[in-house]
Amino acid sequence: MSPPSATSFTTDVVPQAPEDPLFGLMRAYRADQDPNKVDLGIGAYRDDNAKPWVLPVVKKADEVLRSDPDLNHEYAPIAGIPSFTSKAAELILGGADSPAIKEKRATSIQTISGTGAVHLGALFLSRFYPGTKKVYLSNPTWANHNQIFTNVGIPIAQYPYFSKETKGLDFEGMKSALLGAPDRSIILLHACAHNPTGVDPSLAQWKEIAAIMRQKSHFPFFDTAYQGFASGDLSKDNAAVRYFVEQGFELVVAQSFAKNFGLYGERAGCFHVVTSPAPDAENTITRIASQLAILQRSEISNPPLYGARIASTVMNDASLFAEWEDNLRTMSGRIISMRKALRSKLEELGTPGTWNHITDQIGMFSFTGLTEAQVLKIREDAHIYMTKNGRISMAGLNTKNVDYVAKAIDKVVREAQ
Ligand code: LMR
Repeated sequence: MSPPSATSFTTDVVPQAPEDPLFGLMRAYRADQDPNKVDLGIGAYRDDNAKPWVLPVVKKADEVLRSDPDLNHEYAPIAGIPSFTSKAAELILGGADSPAIKEKRATSIQTISGTGAVHLGALFLSRFYPGTKKVYLSNPTWANHNQIFTNVGIPIAQYPYFSKETKGLDFEGMKSALLGAPDRSIILLHACAHNPTGVDPSLAQWKEIAAIMRQKSHFPFFDTAYQGFASGDLSKDNAAVRYFVEQGFELVVAQSFAKNFGLYGERAGCFHVVTSPAPDAENTITRIASQLAILQRSEISNPPLYGARIASTVMNDASLFAEWEDNLRTMSGRIISMRKALRSKLEELGTPGTWNHITDQIGMFSFTGLTEAQVLKIREDAHIYMTKNGRISMAGLNTKNVDYVAKAIDKVVREAQ
């Protein structure tokens, strides 16, 4: 008898996969010993000393939880903690008065942050969506969107989004792609602070997008990770979702609390389904919720508690909520001031090109327009880390390094002239 082969998983069966670009970049940054190194890679908030910031309100909520004598570590319900999911729904859908909530046309299920929410939504649609099973992603989009939808077998297509010329929205390109897509396609929309570009449609443009989506019976799939973090105003940052809900769309929302609570590693998120007004809407939503529960049970059984408990404690207490809004203004305010500082340094230096896009774009990221070659050069020469597409995480800038970064950008831009 010949010996059994050593592995079933030979290279032709399991080829070596590339490292995740973003987490690979984080690893390279951490290994870099240069004292001037700057991390503009991963989208995680840093304070003016380039340190992670635990929100003061999160520390308070943590205290509340730790001193609760009734706290235990029993399983959460399959759909998560109700006090969390209900407030999460109010937050994104437009308050307790949202027609979707009042008319019991919404269901919410706690997820492993935004990634888990996008996944659960994609999985649900792959099983149950009877329209065109194809998802249109913005070009560019958050890299993980591609693999999440591909993994559940939903083919992906793209709609134009970013204009290289204006470094703003390619609105005409976007509209004509939505018009050209087969009826009832799934359209993934970033609710605010688009990742990676920082470019958002205006409310008037959202209204035009909604009109096209209605005309084509497209299915809106919102991804929201920056509510309150982008502008500092929770209700400004959910204006697009609110508008679509008010218009009576059937839609889904994947919601992350990683950024706006600084709960990155705690994986607090939520997935919401809203169905359109109809006499049997409540039944529809009950059926959908029952199927989501089955999918959830088979994948994660029930969601993790800690992050959701923190967010729930804050969102259910008026004074903690007000403090959270204040913390959101601190984070967004610092980022906005760094946008102004970077733009004015580049303009002062007379760096070739225009730099108004740095302050026009909003949220965690700015799409600088630097080429891949320039990104690699700046990494090698100045130890400044950003993703290859020229995206910078604005939160990595601070009063101590913004001059250094501006000068390094100036240098690579001039070298390319
Ligand atoms: C990012 O884009 O940097 C963040 O959303 C982190 C992630 O999970 O990709």
